[in-house]
Amino acid sequence: MQQYPYVITISSEKGGVGKTTLASNLAVYLKAMREDLPVTILSFDNHFTIDRMFELKGQKVSGTVHEMLMGAPARDLVHTGQYCIGYIPSSNELSDIHERFKGPMTLTRILAESGITGIVIIDTRPDLNILTQNALYAADQVLIPVKDMASLENCKNIFALFDQRGMDKKSLALIPCLIDERIKFEGVFKDQKTLLRAFAANRGYRCLDIFISKSPKVESLNTNPDGKIYPILTHARGTDVHNQFSEIARDLLGNLDATPESRSFLYARWLAEKEDKKKEAYLARLEGLAERCLICGALLAERPEGRGFYYETSDRARRGFLHTDCFADMLCATLYGMTSDSQAFGAARAVVAEKAAKLVSLLFPTMVNGSYHMDFMQFDSTGEQLFQKELVLSGFAEGRFDAVNDSLYLLLNEALSGYEGKPREGVWLAVHPVDPGHPESVLGEERYRALHHMQVRVGETVQSAMLR
Ligand SMILES: Nc1ncnc2c1ncn2[C@@H]1O[C@H](COP(=O)(O)OP(=O)(O)OP(=O)(O)O)[C@@H](O)[C@H]1O
Ligand SMILES: [Mg+2]
Ligand SMILES: [Zn+2]
Repeated sequence: MQQYPYVITISSEKGGVGKTTLASNLAVYLKAMREDLPVTILSFDNHFTIDRMFELKGQKVSGTVHEMLMGAPARDLVHTGQYCIGYIPSSNELSDIHERFKGPMTLTRILAESGITGIVIIDTRPDLNILTQNALYAADQVLIPVKDMASLENCKNIFALFDQRGMDKKSLALIPCLIDERIKFEGVFKDQKTLLRAFAANRGYRCLDIFISKSPKVESLNTNPDGKIYPILTHARGTDVHNQFSEIARDLLGNLDATPESRSFLYARWLAEKEDKKKEAYLARLEGLAERCLICGALLAERPEGRGFYYETSDRARRGFLHTDCFADMLCATLYGMTSDSQAFGAARAVVAEKAAKLVSLLFPTMVNGSYHMDFMQFDSTGEQLFQKELVLSGFAEGRFDAVNDSLYLLLNEALSGYEGKPREGVWLAVHPVDPGHPESVLGEERYRALHHMQVRVGETVQSAMLR
């Protein structure tokens, strides 16, 4: 887990509850209490408070959270600032990111792959947009500041999000903030924090024992002639808030130490397992390939660069590669009855080969009144049918080969024969062009999925053609 960050997100839909104050000062306290712990902070808000607090004088900054969300390596965006705290600069270009930002787990993945270690603190905007959701799901610990009944009401939306996704809510904790201790009530709920805690408990929300007081001194820390924002630790040590932040930070360090596997670590492990499964699936597909070209019968390993086509039967039982020239010659013979000694064979073959190299060819033998026919079709990459020809396979049922159709009959026999050597009923064969430089790449996760998508599309066309 050393290689992965422990993530703390501060979130509340209510504005002005002290999120940014909490996020930025926690960074300072955590770093002060454990100097060797890397602490990184970032914000999805465009108030640049984080930047004003941590930026070193004259520091050149390059890259922001916007670049991070768009896929730039996150670790390269971390700037070491004041108090040795790392910060990723804020951005005011996040408002238009929503449409391009994919999925609620993207930030979890970004952090899992970031190489950032220690603690990452995320300050969010007062809303539950997709970025805030990402920050919530990525967090090992979510702190939700509440200052009054309205902010407490708002919490239910965060809890509901976790329920919708079926996620464990144990990472969520409320923290009463901006508590004015001068306010006292009559009766059981003697003050603001007791009242908030009672209501939180009543709704089933976990609430920290600690709270943060309202302090004029703290409020004054971001109003300075030099435009800087000062930390509580250095500029408000005499306040209750200082002790409260120390306590929260201690609490969080305790949680960190009690967490052997952070969310980013678990996510990275899950990604690695998924990657392993993909590799296994790829290897399994490689193993299932026929060793020989079904047309000429030669071992493909003897002339690996000759592989220009991949075939697969609709029932996925047989698959492998064919030599480019074997398949082109076969098509020439099958479609036009031309063999190498025919007149104009060269020109015809060039045309046939060119078409086959761009289109998916489908061969579908069917028995009609005791003799075999074959539907031959070609489809473009969108699955649209561009060519169709029906052929009579004379002699095929009897196993009689003629000079013209030998190659085709071999191919059909090898690929489609089942019980007693007869073609498996309703099964067809599709031949896909592949890059002779890397024929196996057709079996890679995405290409293979696309190929299957294509198999399904052409299969539907075949079905509807049969019904006609
Ligand atoms: N403990 C405190 N005592 C007094 N004032 C505080 C305290 N904490 C924060 N404030 C003040 O309250 C205001 C709001 O705080 P802050 O910006 O941290 O809230 P926020 O939830 O991040 O707001 P927003 O939703 O706009 O991002 C600020 O002026 C801040 O100085
Ligand atoms: Mg804020
Ligand atoms: Zn061959």
